[in-house]
Amino acid sequence: MKIIKVKDYQEMSRAACEMILEKVKNIKQPVLGLATGSTPEGLYRCMVQAYKGGKYSFQHVITFNLDEYLNLDQHHPNSYHFYMRKKLFDHVDIPKKNIHIPNGVAEDIVKECRRYDERIKSVGNIDIQVLGLGINGHIGFNEPGTSFTSTTHVVHLDEITRKANSKYFHNIQDVPYKAITMGIGNIMESKEILLLVSGKKKALALVKLINGEVCEQFPASILKRHKNVTIIADYDALTELI
Ligand code: F6R
Repeated sequence: MKIIKVKDYQEMSRAACEMILEKVKNIKQPVLGLATGSTPEGLYRCMVQAYKGGKYSFQHVITFNLDEYLNLDQHHPNSYHFYMRKKLFDHVDIPKKNIHIPNGVAEDIVKECRRYDERIKSVGNIDIQVLGLGINGHIGFNEPGTSFTSTTHVVHLDEITRKANSKYFHNIQDVPYKAITMGIGNIMESKEILLLVSGKKKALALVKLINGEVCEQFPASILKRHKNVTIIADYDALTELI
């Protein structure tokens, strides 16, 4: 794993954006794996800026999001469909048909999981997968204990995750209990992985990832077995390591 140390959230976002834009520029049909949450918001702002600056087009880009809450309609302001439209898709020229986000309200959720896996395979897997880090080590919504070989599936969210995400809801009771997520197997099949880590509250998780052993109780630890992972971490996230 390559670790790039940066001063702060801004620098992390800019460095991540440069890596993404490099793919957008050099790959004929780049497949981007995208995350939600607070971590990639700055990255998306930089991507929008790059597009508005006129130097970049995303018309040839295909995207796959990691996850979506179960039973939240895509117009619900807390759904990841809504988040992605507001933060990125409404502001750049990625064709709608190239955008993929798991459908958390699908009638047959098992079928939806298989459809998602097949769709990722059909484009030759993800060129670069952006990840944030859960404080319990989750990646996507793959909570501790998830099999390293898992494909897209439904998860019961950890109370730690529901609490962390409750900041976006009126209160914790409104946070869904379940979500649909790409599996760790899907993530590991990405050609390249970009893990973004910012802020003191992620510092312990980052130590565990870097110094701990590879085990299913700490899902992000599997990234050590991937051959092309870059971590961009800011000083606050690195406080326990430097
Ligand atoms: C989001 C996702 C999650 C987040 C993680 C960190 O699509 O899959 O794994 O990346 O929960 O969330 P933030 O960035 O809000 O700290």
